[in-house]
Amino acid sequence: MKLPHPIQYQGSKRVLASTILRYLPHKFPRLVEPFAGTAAISIACAARNKTNAYWINDLNKSLMELLELIINHPVEIADFYEKLWNQQHNNSIEHYYQIRENFNRTGDARLFLYLLARCVKGSVRYNTEGLFNQSPDKRRLGTQPSTMRENIYGVSSLLKGKAIISSLDYKAILLNINEDDVVYMDPPYQGVCGDRDSRYFSGIQYDEFVTALKELNTRHIRYAVSYDGRTGNKTFDTRLPESLSLTLIELEAGRSSQATLLRRDAVTVESLYLSPRLAQEVAAFPYFHKKNEAKQLVLMEEKGSYGTKIPK
Ligand SMILES: C[S@@+](CC[C@H](N)C(=O)[O-])C[C@H]1O[C@@H](n2cnc3c(N)ncnc32)[C@H](O)[C@@H]1O
Repeated sequence: MKLPHPIQYQGSKRVLASTILRYLPHKFPRLVEPFAGTAAISIACAARNKTNAYWINDLNKSLMELLELIINHPVEIADFYEKLWNQQHNNSIEHYYQIRENFNRTGDARLFLYLLARCVKGSVRYNTEGLFNQSPDKRRLGTQPSTMRENIYGVSSLLKGKAIISSLDYKAILLNINEDDVVYMDPPYQGVCGDRDSRYFSGIQYDEFVTALKELNTRHIRYAVSYDGRTGNKTFDTRLPESLSLTLIELEAGRSSQATLLRRDAVTVESLYLSPRLAQEVAAFPYFHKKNEAKQLVLMEEKGSYGTKIPK
């Protein structure tokens, strides 16, 4: 299924969404994404009509403001992007740095869309003061305005009128969900620098996260967590403890961008953990999805269309 994706974001689960969705119930009242990023799983669930209500949250305020504009004001944000994109032709590098400086000063989410489209590999980077400091991609000018417009309208037509958007710490979200909800969590990986990951706006503490999951188990909440990953044989995160009684599904995701940069052949394997109630409901057992198998499953699925007409 071709899913709209206006926001370039390293770590987006767009490519794995089809496989992840197979482990969510067929229909449910509401999807909650406490670490939504680009909301790839909400977009995929909306395209499959799995639910009609979404709570999309991420601590990155500019990102959530941008998503809100995309969903609720698609024409305005598409027009703004087109205008900004067309301004870059005299000196696109200088133009990028001006927009970046302007964004860091004002936090204007509309500028963020352009920066994400134009920066190296859509990979956000923040310095220790929380300022966006990624460089422009010198070989590309960023998504063409017509393609961007199509993707923006696609997301809007899937989520308009169905989504609540917030920018809170994930723990506040988990306190306010109920047992009908299905929760998909994709927290930042721990990486090499403790609880802070320069790839994202903030990080999380492993112990606090495990405690939060334990609490969800006690409340019988249905949840899935994309947590650790390994490249080749190297696990680059601490795994979630067995005491949580989660079912582990592993998804071969292809070559990691890190491996590509280092010209190595290592393959990234992403882990998806299912809570006890969710695993029981979808009758899941521990499984390793080979990459080609995941691809074949995607090909077997019916082709979806998300509409490119101007939303009301
Ligand atoms: C791996 S990304 C999520 C990617 C997402 N699944 C997608 O498809 O785009 C992790 C996200 O967690 C957010 N985040 C980091 N710390 C957080 C916190 N304490 N509470 C909520 N969100 C947080 C980051 O801003 C980042 O967007």
